Amino acid sequence: MDKIRIRGGQTLNGVIRIGGAKNAALPLMAASLLTDEALVLSNVPHLADITTMANLLGQHGVLVSLEGQAGNGGHVGRVMSLTAGEITSTTAPYDLVRRMRASVLVLGPIVAREGVATVSLPGGCAIGTRPVDIHLSGLEALGAEIEVEAGYIRASAPKGLRGARYVFPKVSVGATENLLLAASLAKGETIFENAAREPEITDLCECLIAMGAKIDGVGTATLTVQGVDRLHGAEHSIMPDRIEAGTYAMAAAITGGTVELEGARLDHIEAAAAQLRKTGTTIETRNGGIFVSRANTELLAVDVETDPYPGFPTDLQAQFLALMTTAKGASVITETIFENRFMHVPELQRMGADVTTQGNTAVVRGVDQLNGAPVMASDLRASASLVLAGLVADGVTEVRRIYHLDRGYERLEEKLRLVGADVERVEDS
Ligand code: UD1
Repeated sequence: MDKIRIRGGQTLNGVIRIGGAKNAALPLMAASLLTDEALVLSNVPHLADITTMANLLGQHGVLVSLEGQAGNGGHVGRVMSLTAGEITSTTAPYDLVRRMRASVLVLGPIVAREGVATVSLPGGCAIGTRPVDIHLSGLEALGAEIEVEAGYIRASAPKGLRGARYVFPKVSVGATENLLLAASLAKGETIFENAAREPEITDLCECLIAMGAKIDGVGTATLTVQGVDRLHGAEHSIMPDRIEAGTYAMAAAITGGTVELEGARLDHIEAAAAQLRKTGTTIETRNGGIFVSRANTELLAVDVETDPYPGFPTDLQAQFLALMTTAKGASVITETIFENRFMHVPELQRMGADVTTQGNTAVVRGVDQLNGAPVMASDLRASASLVLAGLVADGVTEVRRIYHLDRGYERLEEKLRLVGADVERVEDS
């Protein structure tokens, strides 16, 4: 297994190309199950989770082909074609689903198209209990019968799903996506209230509309779907990864550097940008991407609370916490989306960070200097926070278990090296 070795102390300067969004790509790939025609996705990132989803879809009978193009700092502009001419299996087995929680996104489209779907209960990141009860109660509202037995969810609607009014009891990105996919082929009108408003959901809506779906209220918490009998093929370009962009923005800020994030969209990370500005970092749109700089300004402590979009994303909490470890003053970080999402804290403490946690709150008191140490990645975004800390730590930091990073960051070490970081991937002995 590989590890990432970082020698801290380099200031980042240059251009980083931002790839397609993993969290948009996964539901978009699942949308291919809704039609027997080809769905062609461009700007597909080269990531382990994308391969996992492609394998899962392949197992359901989807023909997946990929054309790649190597580019600056990784594969950019990959095009994936997905054709679900026939669904050959309506079961998503444990072995594939356990690798990635987002596998549950096949449930809605398969039951909508085939009248039955059996999907293993998902695994995924170790960030607290992550139930799928909302996915299931939403499908029930659309007329599916749900049974959970021996670790499998079985949804059936032999006569097809029917439109309904469904109020999400809690904002859920995945459940909103799953139910949107299902409602597109339901009979009649569905009204979703308190739906998630993440840009990835807007991206999914735009692709579904290109496939012939009828959705109103895109970008708002109330989505109205007029079910159609069939959807057709389409071409869609996946939105840029806002979490990757936010992570590199924080990497620039922590090293006091200046970086341009090519292809990134500032309007997708406004809440994080607002907090970054308060730390003394400049962040603005430039050349169609994002310009970030903290040259010659002191890094100031700022409080953050995570919230559903348009709030501060939970997927940037760990990275922001790492940024605060060397800020001037104390910062209070409150995590409201997931329980148990401070697993990066004990590792950062090993690097000399002064952090105390209580419940869903962490208090970070900035220290003058972090020290390099061997650390262990526990989940995707926690791993990124350790890399950020390593960039400014004195000496060598080695991040182990980087398969977490490979799930969500395309060629991270290459991209960082291109802007001056001293970082390499080495074999763990
Ligand atoms: C998605 C993102 C993940 C991000 C999260 C929140 C993908 C592939 N993953 O995850 O990176 O951190 O949104 O922005 O897009 N919940 C329930 N019951 C449910 C579903 C969710 O209680 O049926 C809870 C969760 O435990 C969590 C909260 O709702 O506390 C939000 O979760 P959700 O928005 O569903 O996250 P995911 O879609 O899994």
